[in-house]
Amino acid sequence: MADEPIGLNHGLTNYGDFDFARFLRRSFARSMGISSKMLEKPIVGIAMTPSGFNNCHRCMPELVEAVSRGVLASGALPRPFPTVSLGEVFLNPTSMMYRNLMAMDTEEMISAQPMDAVVLIGGCDKTVPAQLMGAASANLPAVQLVTGPMLTGRHKGQRLGACTDCRAFWGKYRAGAVDLDEIKAVEGRLAVTAGTCAVMGTASTMACIAETLGMTLPGTAAIPAVHADRLVAAEESGKAAAGLIASKLTPRDVITRESVENALRVLLAVGGSTNAVVHLAAIAGRLGIKIPLSRFNELSDETPVLVDLKPVGEGYMEDFHAAGGVGALLRELRPLLYLDTIDVEGRRLGERLAEPNEWIDRAIIRSFDNPISNVGGLVALNGNLAPEGAIFKRAAATPSLFESEGRAVVFTGLEDLSKRIDDPDLDVRPDDILVLQNAGPYAAGMPEAGYLPIPKRLAQAGVKDMVRISDARMSGTAFGSIVLHIAPEAAIGGPLAAVRNGDRIRLSITNKSINLLVEDFEIKRRLTEHRPPPVPVRGYKSLYRRSVLQAPNGCDFDFLADGNAS
Ligand code: FES
Ligand code: MG
Repeated sequence: MADEPIGLNHGLTNYGDFDFARFLRRSFARSMGISSKMLEKPIVGIAMTPSGFNNCHRCMPELVEAVSRGVLASGALPRPFPTVSLGEVFLNPTSMMYRNLMAMDTEEMISAQPMDAVVLIGGCDKTVPAQLMGAASANLPAVQLVTGPMLTGRHKGQRLGACTDCRAFWGKYRAGAVDLDEIKAVEGRLAVTAGTCAVMGTASTMACIAETLGMTLPGTAAIPAVHADRLVAAEESGKAAAGLIASKLTPRDVITRESVENALRVLLAVGGSTNAVVHLAAIAGRLGIKIPLSRFNELSDETPVLVDLKPVGEGYMEDFHAAGGVGALLRELRPLLYLDTIDVEGRRLGERLAEPNEWIDRAIIRSFDNPISNVGGLVALNGNLAPEGAIFKRAAATPSLFESEGRAVVFTGLEDLSKRIDDPDLDVRPDDILVLQNAGPYAAGMPEAGYLPIPKRLAQAGVKDMVRISDARMSGTAFGSIVLHIAPEAAIGGPLAAVRNGDRIRLSITNKSINLLVEDFEIKRRLTEHRPPPVPVRGYKSLYRRSVLQAPNGCDFDFLADGNAS
């Protein structure tokens, strides 16, 4: 008897005897103590990501329980399953190297196991993009749930939140303004609850993007991790996933060119993380959607920054939630948005936004007519140093450095950087441009090394910001006049590899350009000497280096991105 593939009957490996395969699977399922009647029901898988190496997912067990409650209440059977979990600060050489591994794990486990829909629970920086990439490719009905942000801590009357304040305090410590005892006390006050970083870093930016794409339930991106409403959101996500089984709506219906552009608007309006540009390119790339950097700049020039959170402004994610969250922001951005996009419940964005705001805290979410800045937080750059593009977070930079020309002080890699940056004899002046090579996706997994420290000697003399350029990323919680994601990267022979100490470099945010002021023939001559590092012989790192794409393609693997992306 060939049952309708539902629940446990999905993907039965039958070797010619379907009934035996079904009998065998049911027997083993019964060993989990599930009644025969429950095994007839449709199944909602729950991709869970708890880990002793992921503080941001500390609340995972209660989220899984709440999702399960919602699934059961809707007449389906919840089945949690683990996938790779990526705790941002615990991974060496960088979590970014493992995002694609998690995306593959997520896709394959959704596809290989018997389920009719899935709830994906993630939170920390790389986890939500990995889950959305995997879900987009698996194309089973899916609902994203985020773990939610941390609450702030307190130190001598000051609110602290990971991790913009981590950087600010560490900067003061390096400059000698904070002593060892105080920095030790601060260490225990920066990250004080379960949940993701408390500012508009990568995790929070990706949560806002997931909600704008339509992949989470509306209103759920910013609910703090420890808030009761976070568990209600989990319960509702379980119900929604069960509901999707009948509607058959999949990520392919929800993530469209229009919803990706809406998500980019939100990224720009929150002054969000530069990392989100890479992650969104990877998610969209799974579905053949590519937004050129020229379009990105058009969006940036029309989209005001409206949200006043660290690292760009003052508030924290708990304030954003209390202020009205993503819904309130979307209502402000309404004139710029595509309103026919749908969310996981099949509801049009226009319908959602027709509902009035309950209340908006204008200190945190400005009105469209009274923005923090008239233009978006990020801008893409081109030029002979970045023929395929680079990213600059103007919202977190020093405006007086927007038009800069300076002498290059070059570090040839991460080791060279850590060896020499604090050398008291380093020949560096405040108006120099710090250049880091060989920290791109191919060379190094694209670590968050683009936030080069200000050389100690200059920091102690009071220098707070300098132009820094690299093919690396920077943390979403960081700030400064920093050119990132230079493509092609130095290790594969991009022009960044041709920069030498003492060359002049010009940055112009007005012209959206980054140029090496060296003759073309000389750049070419220097690049002929370039040799890319070899591919490791075994394991995941070998697969990684053979397959990773550059930043404009989201650093996805070539065999996972949609080959027809246009
Ligand atoms: Fe997980 Fe910041 S370390 S979100
Ligand atoms: Mg981060």
